[in-house]
Amino acid sequence: MEHKVNPELSQSHTLPSRLYTEEAALKNEQEKIFEKTWLFAGHISQVKNAGDYFTKDIAGHSILIIKGNDEEIRSFYNVCPHRASKLVENECGHKKNIQCPYHAWSFTLDGHLNRAPNMKGVSYNSEDFCLKNPKLEIVASFIFVNLDENASPMSEVFGNLFDGFKNYPFEDLKLARSKEDIVKCNWKVTVDNYLECDHCPTIHKGFVNTLDMGHYEISTFDNFSYQGVPLRAGTSEPDQLGQSAKYYFLYPNMWISINPGLPNVSINQSIPIDHKTTQLIYSTYFLDLNDQDAQKKFYAFLDQVREEDFVICETVQKGIESKGYTQGRFSLTENCVHHFHLLVQSALESEKAYVSLKTKVK
Ligand code: FES
Ligand SMILES: [Fe+2]
Repeated sequence: MEHKVNPELSQSHTLPSRLYTEEAALKNEQEKIFEKTWLFAGHISQVKNAGDYFTKDIAGHSILIIKGNDEEIRSFYNVCPHRASKLVENECGHKKNIQCPYHAWSFTLDGHLNRAPNMKGVSYNSEDFCLKNPKLEIVASFIFVNLDENASPMSEVFGNLFDGFKNYPFEDLKLARSKEDIVKCNWKVTVDNYLECDHCPTIHKGFVNTLDMGHYEISTFDNFSYQGVPLRAGTSEPDQLGQSAKYYFLYPNMWISINPGLPNVSINQSIPIDHKTTQLIYSTYFLDLNDQDAQKKFYAFLDQVREEDFVICETVQKGIESKGYTQGRFSLTENCVHHFHLLVQSALESEKAYVSLKTKVK
């Protein structure tokens, strides 16, 4: 018998294994989760000047993010309204206008049709050919896109999450490295894994040696959760970037991570490629790009933890596919995984992208 995820942690089962192994489950999640939620696109430093742009895959749709002459950053579906060519091929660059490579229609940086050279003799209204723009918000200097026209603003969805970042100079961050890896498991296996640290003493021995694990904090909020731990040596400035380990999970698939080391923020994303393959993107930002030695040391720390996680995630996927496993249970310190499972279950059952959860932790 299949059990539902119970709002009470101590009595709850995990999501059933079929949600990790069936192609149809991912299709359903794409529609009910990824096409309706706020997804990370990039950082304002990637579009400093008018005409600067980058492209990003958001829920399987190519999206163009570009800064207009009025300094506004906009998002457009990267598709030409004439006959559907991809408008911009490169991942990033600079443009004076947006010209389609197929029949050379061109658009202004704010998405209006400028020229349509092959349309002489056709009656049409240029306003009907503006580029379509999904919702965009910039919060704490990070750019988010939501494909749902009726999406609630991020301030409603994530409550006071971003207040906690006000003291950090996020707008001065510079992208230092963006690393991508493919892991052979369902995207939720990677999310589950990152949402608990019960496995840290067994899987990440190097990580726990630097941290005061006796004070590991793990809390859930409406659509995000938090894990944090002070450095083992103690610090006089816990609110400075690099002086503690803080991990904010934003449902459905991203983390804002502040690790010990030089002042840094990393954005981690778990993006489904198919139901058994996940792309993990780690974008690391520093306030100062000069200290190469400190950066190397930092990447070594980060990469070791990540590789340890990949191995266990692929092993878990195999286990979930076994006939010997259908559903698991949670420990009381797996409350963030439980919270994530409740959010997924609610999204799949309802038409709502986000729900307000009142979880009980005993
Ligand atoms: S498809 Fe873009 S100009 Fe024809
Ligand atoms: Fe881990």
